[in-house]
Amino acid sequence: MKILVATSKPFAPVAVKGIKEVLENAGHEMVLVEKGTKADMINAIADCAGLIVRSDIVDKEVMDAAPELKVVVRAGAGYDNIDLAEATAHGICVMNTPGQNSNAVAELVFGMLLTLVRNRYNGTSGTELKDKTLGIHAYGQVGRNVARIAKGLGMKVSALDPWVKDDDMLADGVSPVHSVEELYEQNQYVSLHIPATEQTKKSVGKVLIERLPKNGVLINTARKEVIDEEGLEAALECREDVRYIADVKPDIAGALEEKFGDRVMFTPKKMGAQTAEANINAGIAAANQVAMHLADGWNRFQVNK
Ligand code: 3PG
Repeated sequence: MKILVATSKPFAPVAVKGIKEVLENAGHEMVLVEKGTKADMINAIADCAGLIVRSDIVDKEVMDAAPELKVVVRAGAGYDNIDLAEATAHGICVMNTPGQNSNAVAELVFGMLLTLVRNRYNGTSGTELKDKTLGIHAYGQVGRNVARIAKGLGMKVSALDPWVKDDDMLADGVSPVHSVEELYEQNQYVSLHIPATEQTKKSVGKVLIERLPKNGVLINTARKEVIDEEGLEAALECREDVRYIADVKPDIAGALEEKFGDRVMFTPKKMGAQTAEANINAGIAAANQVAMHLADGWNRFQVNK
């Protein structure tokens, strides 16, 4: 069967090679559309039984163009780019590959944070992360990796996650926090790891950001949609000591950069999961999941039940 790998942000070549091998060993043929648009995806999908994507939009239009499609695997964690209700209506199984790219995202949190607190290496004295407080907003796979690295740097780590038991956080040396207000009030650095859902979109705004202690920094490597951008702008106006850094550029990035200069920092493209290792892990997991689903209906990581 034909399996389309459609990634506007391409995997490392070594990962593409691995994906191809997995699919061919399972008797399938890989069709590759890299750096393409949604139209390119639609043009290539008509006779494909499987689809592997990253943050690429998979909506009704794509599914209507894919009568043979049985399975979509998002090579990564967040699946807010896929219309789950439409997939269910089309009889398509949607899966993600939990945990496969989480270390890469966690490492970038500290890459960005160190760049910020060392004043972008401009020759002036910065600050250290050791002994500083870090609050992790959602303790999933990325949050856990952030905690592990932060502990290595000697930071004091706490986390908020209603789905995780206190004992599990304590076992990692992380202090459980039980309200979002406390998390923001008690930590100089807060790292966001919530998914973008109807409940979380625009859930972090002026009121929460202003709770950060003196010289607070909010780090967002999750999704731009979870930020109330007007609220962020207002908080940065009121609190001249607060800074915002993100791997998921806000829509108003240009205006924020103009107004707040070095107090904001954005990657040019979402780079969190852009490592060879994460591409290999997530890409090959996705290929295996597609092959297993087409072989016998395997659906362990299905997200549209
Ligand atoms: C994810 O949800 O897995 C991460 O945000 C990475 O997304 P990407 O594959 O688009 O880089």
